[in-house]
Amino acid sequence: MIHLLNIRKSYENVAESAPVLGFRELHIGAGERVALTGESGSGKTTLLNMLSGLLVPDVGEVRIDGTNIAALSEAQRDRFRAANIGYVFQTFHLLQGYTVQENVELGALFARGHQEAGRAAFLLESVGLEHRRRHLPNQLSVGQQARVALARALMNKPRVLLADEPTGALDPETGRQVLALLLDSAQQYGITMVCATHDPGVAAAFDKIVRVEDLQ
Ligand SMILES: Nc1ncnc2c1ncn2[C@@H]1O[C@H](COP(=O)(O)OP(=O)(O)OP(=O)(O)O)[C@@H](O)[C@H]1O
Ligand SMILES: [Mg+2]
Repeated sequence: MIHLLNIRKSYENVAESAPVLGFRELHIGAGERVALTGESGSGKTTLLNMLSGLLVPDVGEVRIDGTNIAALSEAQRDRFRAANIGYVFQTFHLLQGYTVQENVELGALFARGHQEAGRAAFLLESVGLEHRRRHLPNQLSVGQQARVALARALMNKPRVLLADEPTGALDPETGRQVLALLLDSAQQYGITMVCATHDPGVAAAFDKIVRVEDLQ
């Protein structure tokens, strides 16, 4: 499903001789739910950004369902991401000028050219936020914002769900609820999931743990 080959990635603006990431191979099977662990600065976010096509490696292939997204143009990667990938960012990146409902709908607007109010409402209900649809993101608790970010990431029925420390800013109980929602959503819809986390308790809930340091 996901296959990375002969990856090297460095950041041009930094005078470091060693690349941030360099490894021969990473394979993730269809429907697998994988925790990505590693020290701070080991490259977890960099790897997630390459899986989403927000970043391309200097060298190597990032194959998702057979498409090497590293070889696509930026516009093609944007389209591929909109159609295939849901991303729950670490700080959620909700659009502050838009309601909860609009935040969830906007992904579909970009991907398919029309809004889908019904699906957005369905997803908001499934994360327990139907009563917060008309609120603005800054009127929500952090845990509620995490659930909006999950609903938005599921909007386009992605084949791959990426999450970057989705429970990092949450108290333990809310963190457990959001983690369960993420894992259950991936399982229910057969989505392949990769989730970066510092927390061994979170990592243990996944089918498989990949330590970034062990790839190198
Ligand atoms: N835009 C950038 N420009 C230059 N260097 C960067 C950039 N983004 C990340 N790096 C460097 O790349 C390395 C990996 O960063 P990355 O954010 O992928 O780590 P991480 O494992 O996600 O860390 P954390 O657990 O703290 O989120 C770090 O050394 C970081 O300083
Ligand atoms: Mg990170």
